[in-house]
Amino acid sequence: MHYRPLGRTGWKVSDISFGAWAIGGAWGQVSDDDAMAALHQAIDSGVNFLDTADVYGGGRSERLIARLKKSRKEEIIVATKAGRRLPRQTVGGYTRQNLVSWIDDSLRNLATDALDLLQLHCPPTDLYPRPEVFAMLDDFVKAGKIRYYGVSVEKIEEALKAIEYPNVQTVQIIFNCFRQRPAEVFFPQAKQKKIGILARVPLASGLLTGKFRRDSTFSSDDHRNFNRHGASFDVGETFSGVDYNVALEAVEQIRKLVPAGASMSQFALRWILMFDAVTCTIPGAKRAAQVEDNVRAADLPPLPVATMEAVDRLYRERIRPLGHHYW
Ligand SMILES: NC(=O)c1ccc[n+]([C@@H]2O[C@H](COP(=O)([O-])OP(=O)(O)OC[C@H]3O[C@@H](n4cnc5c(N)ncnc54)[C@H](OP(=O)(O)O)[C@@H]3O)[C@@H](O)[C@H]2O)c1
Repeated sequence: MHYRPLGRTGWKVSDISFGAWAIGGAWGQVSDDDAMAALHQAIDSGVNFLDTADVYGGGRSERLIARLKKSRKEEIIVATKAGRRLPRQTVGGYTRQNLVSWIDDSLRNLATDALDLLQLHCPPTDLYPRPEVFAMLDDFVKAGKIRYYGVSVEKIEEALKAIEYPNVQTVQIIFNCFRQRPAEVFFPQAKQKKIGILARVPLASGLLTGKFRRDSTFSSDDHRNFNRHGASFDVGETFSGVDYNVALEAVEQIRKLVPAGASMSQFALRWILMFDAVTCTIPGAKRAAQVEDNVRAADLPPLPVATMEAVDRLYRERIRPLGHHYW
């Protein structure tokens, strides 16, 4: 495992970290035992940073992480999120009272006195020009409820606005072989401002593991079934918003680029780590074996220039025309 500085926080976090959405909910059934085994495997592998949210399984993901922390002596940094418990995303919902109540619930779930990193959870675009919201977050830092804060964004333009606020430490954004615009438009500015970048949905919801087929099915409580066309939340969060069949064809092109001895998941994660603006990627995993596979990406040698060019070409020809400018 390798560690990179998380913005200006002073923390160094594992470049392959852990996304704890799937162990919470919305990805089909995951037992507590499997979820705990996945978390322990992550820590055994040198992961020291976990990303969760209050809404993942209604607090289940946070509570599982609290259990993990209780039984491990290693330092584990936990990023959580707030805002998605609003019935409708409106700026008006981001009141001091709501924020305090969401933070207090996360403190309870995580069994801690202060949240390491609180991220606004894909708030509406018109929240970003509202300094009073960020001023409230400053107050929570001063009060000792949160150590640092950041944002999780849908769109690059939101990220660019967010990093105008001097105490925004991190931006979580979708970045993978099928979602490359952040590297062009956002990374140079984030790097200059020493913003920590958390690359989420790195496996395009599992597509970039190479395991899916045209006839793969997903259970009714898995967002790859119920949100495939954006019925519940932003369509970009499911399969990166790429049409499933187009993506399967692109996956076959990527398969040819995977070095001998590596899995496609490792390749997809190593591709992300080729960008030094990225602090870490946070692949989700439901089982210990998936974690074991994913963490090995950290030890793959850098991908050859020709391989990076081939992924770039594939993106430009097959994926970019479908949605490059949307996010
Ligand atoms: N709005 C937000 O802020 C937001 C939105 C999305 C995600 N996130 C964060 O980002 C994290 C990562 O994104 P994600 O979980 O949506 O997607 P992802 O990391 O691209 O995909 C994760 C899924 O891929 C499958 N998988 C993982 N490793 C595998 C392996 N080695 N071999 C085979 N299958 C494997 C697992 O599902 P199956 O086994 O069922 O296929 C796993 O749940 C989340 O956990 C969450 O922390 C945040």
